[in-house]
Formats: sequence, structure tokens, C-alpha cells
Amino acid sequence: MQPKPRRQFSFLAKFSLAAFIITAAIAVLLAWGTQRRLEHNALLQAAENAGDQVSTVLNPNLTTADLVAPLSSARFEEIDALIRQNILRKNIVRVKIWNRRGLLLYSDQKNLVGRTFPLSEELQEALEGKVGMEVSSLEKEENIEERGHFKQLLEVYVALRPHNSSEILGAYEIYQDMTLLEPRIATIRRFVWYSVSLGFLILYGSLFMLVYNASRELVRRNQENARLYAEAERRLENLQGLRNIDQAITSSLDLYLTLQVVLTQITTQLGVDAAAVLLLKPHSHALEFAAGRGFRSPAIESSQALLGESYAGRAALERRLLHISNLPAAAHEFTRQSLLAGEQFIAYYVIPLIAKKRVMGVMEIYHRSPLNPQQEWLDFLEALATQTAIAIDNASLFEDLQRSNTDLTLAYDATIEGWSRALDLRDKETEGHTQRVTAMTLDLARAMRIREPDMVHFRRGALLHDIGKMGIPDNILLKPGPLTEEEWKIMRQHPAYAYEMLSPITFLHPALDIPHYHHERWDGSGYPHALKGEQIPLAARIFAVADVWDALSSNRPYRPAWPADKIWAYLQEQTGRLFDPQVVKLFKTIRGQNH
Ligand code: C2E
Ligand code: SIN
Ligand code: SIN
Ligand code: FE
Ligand code: FE
Repeated sequence: MQPKPRRQFSFLAKFSLAAFIITAAIAVLLAWGTQRRLEHNALLQAAENAGDQVSTVLNPNLTTADLVAPLSSARFEEIDALIRQNILRKNIVRVKIWNRRGLLLYSDQKNLVGRTFPLSEELQEALEGKVGMEVSSLEKEENIEERGHFKQLLEVYVALRPHNSSEILGAYEIYQDMTLLEPRIATIRRFVWYSVSLGFLILYGSLFMLVYNASRELVRRNQENARLYAEAERRLENLQGLRNIDQAITSSLDLYLTLQVVLTQITTQLGVDAAAVLLLKPHSHALEFAAGRGFRSPAIESSQALLGESYAGRAALERRLLHISNLPAAAHEFTRQSLLAGEQFIAYYVIPLIAKKRVMGVMEIYHRSPLNPQQEWLDFLEALATQTAIAIDNASLFEDLQRSNTDLTLAYDATIEGWSRALDLRDKETEGHTQRVTAMTLDLARAMRIREPDMVHFRRGALLHDIGKMGIPDNILLKPGPLTEEEWKIMRQHPAYAYEMLSPITFLHPALDIPHYHHERWDGSGYPHALKGEQIPLAARIFAVADVWDALSSNRPYRPAWPADKIWAYLQEQTGRLFDPQVVKLFKTIRGQNH
């Protein structure tokens, strides 16, 4: 969601244009109206002045009688003289005197005097006491004479009150030369247009600024919103990334699997080309490659950096983020040059992985173009580094657990060996019988390609094979001669005793075959279950050969040791009867006897 400032500005332009036209139209109307009003006022004032001038001179000299009928010629001359001397100046060019009926009592146009005209509107107004006024372009018939002398005349009509009456008995019609008024009107016009234009400009300017600023603010907020939105989205993704890592940490105790997840998140979330995790090996003080992603060559996998040396080693030692902005330009600073061949990396970041205040290793970021990270990117890198460190710590906890498990196992095995020695001692057999049969059993097992993890069970089973003899009384076990039928019955219990003693120990379950079945025989004549052939577990078949071999080569309370030839002959004779022929064959091969 990117902001669209263009649309905003074109909206602004449209708005500005419309506002300009409307404001300008209003300004023109306003100026026009004001001008007319002011002009009218100016004219009215001029008209009133003229009216006052004329009334002041003529009113005292006119009587009620003068206004009834046409003037006598003597009276006309008197008034004419009065007007010419006192009134006609530059501005007032003509005076007419009317009575209420439209009779023209006086005019300098003598041919019209004494005639009656219809009352004009302005004259009517004057007779009602108002000041009538008209700008004349000299089109009226009565103005024929003025044409050519004046451009425009202001005709003024004022009430006439003779000195001996308070009533309006007639009216003056006064012609004023507009030429003299024009400069004043022009000034008024100029003033009006200037001030209205100025007002308009100020108004429009303010409006424009207001709208412009508002629109800028709007755009800014829009951009801000878009930015915040994008940021929120990215944060959510980052969070998801951290969650993925969390899940990887909790669902897998395999560090290398977890690191793969972490590196996938790092490269995608941080938008970088490659990343690697180097783990600190506590004893060598070296950082060694553990996992990587995004590299073209496998060189990173043999990556090693000593603590305190190289950027990676320094980041671990100084516990801080280090970076190289331009690897090609800083090639001499990067000590693992072989790593860079063909990779075309530009930017490099290395951040220590610290959990519980211990440095577990470093995380390296490589990018094939310049990186100019924002604070947020760096924060996220740090969060990822923390998660990674926790993952490593968790995994090493598990390793520790496994190690202590191993330690425990070693302790068990030591105990088992102790038991077996104690058994040998009681049996009065030649010291080392159990050790020897165990060694022989393992040799045979290895020759039979028994899987290595199963060997430990062969070993434990062999060591404990006659543990059941602990349940056989001394008078039977240590009897110097052959056993009676009763004694044999008891002696044959020893594999069952072994089973009873050992089966409660889970740890020894896979080792039970030898103690339980070592006296079974290939032909099914053995004990305790008379199993036959391959029904007998392989471990027991293997062991039986080793046990009889070593028993016969040792002194027993009931007989002396047999010579080797006799034993070989016995084995040969009993193969396929007591013993698994394959095992005997293998035993001979191992022992170098090929009869
Ligand atoms: P062991 O002494 O450890 O003998 C283990 C196995 O080696 C015997 O299993 C047997 O298969 C073989 N073996 C040992 N000595 C001889 C021998 O002189 N001749 C032959 N042919 N095979 C021999 P086996 O027979 O099931 O015996 C189990 C255990 O019973 C023996 O363990 C031993 O502790 C005891 N035992 C067996 N025969 C006698 C005996 O005549 N006198 C006494 N006191 N104990 C005996
Ligand atoms: C590294 O961590 O080894 C790369 C930086 C350098 O070697 O200087
Ligand atoms: C035994 O008596 O030999 C142990 C019991 C069993 O194998 O079922
Ligand atoms: Fe036995
Ligand atoms: Fe034995």
C-alpha cells in the first residue's frame, strides 16, 4: 500500500483553480457593487451640494406667487440675473425651475419657458422632498442644446420651498457637469478595485495556504499510515519468524535441524543472501562452522576462526556486533579469504550468540549487495541471535544430559563387571573365565557382523551369564565330583534364576538372551526350554561355544582342565548337536584351527 502523492496534488490543483474562480467572481461582484454604491453616494453628495447651493440662493428670493403661473418678464430677468451671478459656475451649468404641475417657470432656454411638461420620475421625487438624480447622456429632447458641450451631465432635482411657505411648491432641476466629478469617481473606482483585489489576493492566498498545508498534512499522514502499516506487517512477519524458531527449538533437540530453521528465518526475514552459525568449541577456543545457508561454495563448512582473531573471533570475544560494509574494498581485513572466492559478497555482519551470559558462537550474515540496515533490522538481527543462542544452549543442555546418561551407563557397566568378578571368585573357576568368555563372545559376534549398538548387550549378557549360580548352594556348586539327579535339577535352575534376577532391570532387558539361554542346545536337548536350532537366540548360540571352550580349558572342582586338542575334538564332535555349526566354524577360523 504505497501512498499516492500525485493524486493528492492534482486534487489540490483542481481545488485551487475552483477556489480561484469562485473567489475571483465574488471579488468582482463585490468590487462592482461597492463601486456602484460609492459612486452613487459620491454623486448624491454632489447632487445635495448643488441643491443646497441653489436653494440657498433662490429660496429666499422666490415667493408663493412666483410659482403659480408663468413669470412676468421682469421677474424672469431678476431671477435670471440672480442665477447667472450667484449660481452658474464651473460645476453647475444650468438651472430650471418647475412648479408642481410641470410648468417650466425658468430656464435659460427661453423657448421652453412657460410650457407645461409631463412630470418626470425624478421631478416627482423632488416634489416629495427627496433629492432626485440622474446621469444623463444627453439623449433627451430637452438636452439637445447641451450635446457637444458636455460629455455627461448630472441632473439633480431638489424640492423648492419659497421663503414664505413651508410647503414644497416646486422643484429645481440642476445640471451639473460630470467632467468635474470624474476624477473623484475614478479615484473611488481605483480605491475599490485596489482594495478588493488586495483583499481577494489575501483571502485567496490564505485559503490556498490553508488547503495546501492541510493537503500536505493529509499526504504526510497517508504516507505515515502506509509506513506504519508496512512496519506492522513486517513486525508480524518477524514475530512469526521468531515463533518458527521457538517451535523449532522446542520440537527438536537436534541442534543442526534447529539451526537450519533459524538460518532459513534469518535469510528470509532479514532479506540477506547467506548466513552461517559458527559454534565456539570451549577447549580449542575456536569458532567452528555448524550450519550455513545461501553459500555457493562449500568453503564456509571448513570455516574456523580463533577467539579474538578475525571479525568473527573478535565479535565473540568483545561480545558485540561487527560489520564490514564493503568486503571487496576491505579484503585485507577479512582473514578467511578462501571463503569469499566466487561468492561476490559485499556486506558482512557478525553478531555474537550469547545465552545465560555465555558466548555460544557467532552468527554471520553475508549479502551480495550493500546493506544499509535500519535500527529495526538490527534489532531483529539481535532478537534472532538471542533465539539462536537459546537454541544452542538448549541443545547443549540436551547433550549434557546425554553425556551424564553416558556417564551413568559407564557406572552401570563397571558395576556389572564387579558382579561378574565376584561370581567368578565364588565359583572357584580360574580367575578371568568371565572376562575371557566375554572377549571371545564379542570377537565371534563381530565376526558375525552383529551391529555395533547391539554389541554392548552381548557384552553385558556374557559378563552376567552365570549370575543365576548365585542361587545354587555351595555344596552343589563346589562339589568335587559328579552331580546326583537331584543336584542336577537344582543346577539346571541357574538360567531361570538369572532371568528372575535380571528381568526387573529394564536397562538389562536386551542383555538377557545369554544368561537365559546359554545352556540351550542346537539339537533341542538343552535347558531350561529345550529350544532347538535357530529358536535359540543367536547371542546364546555364540556364547555357548565360547563358554564350553573356556570351561573345558579350565580346572573345575569336579575335573581338571582338558588339553586343547581334546577340546577341539569335542567341539568338532558336538557341532550340529550341542552347537550351531556356523558358530563353531567361525570359532575355528578365528582361533586358527581348520580341522
Ligand atoms: P561349568 O563348569 O561352567 O560348565 C559349563 C559347561 O561346560 C557345562 O554345562 C558343559 O557343557 C561344559 N563342561 C564343563 N565341564 C565339562 C566336562 O567335564 N565334560 C563335558 N563334556 N562338558 C563339560 P553343563 O554340563 O550344563 O553344566 C553346567 C554347570 O553345572 C557347570 O558349569 C558346573 O558348574 C556344573 N556341573 C556340571 N557338571 C558337574 C559335575 O560333575 N560336578 C559339579 N560339582 N558341578 C558340575
Ligand atoms: C571472520 O569472521 O573470520 C571474517 C572476518 C575476518 O576474518 O576478518
Ligand atoms: C525361565 O524359567 O526360564 C524363565 C521364564 C520364561 O522364560 O518364561
Ligand atoms: Fe552356565
Ligand atoms: Fe561359564
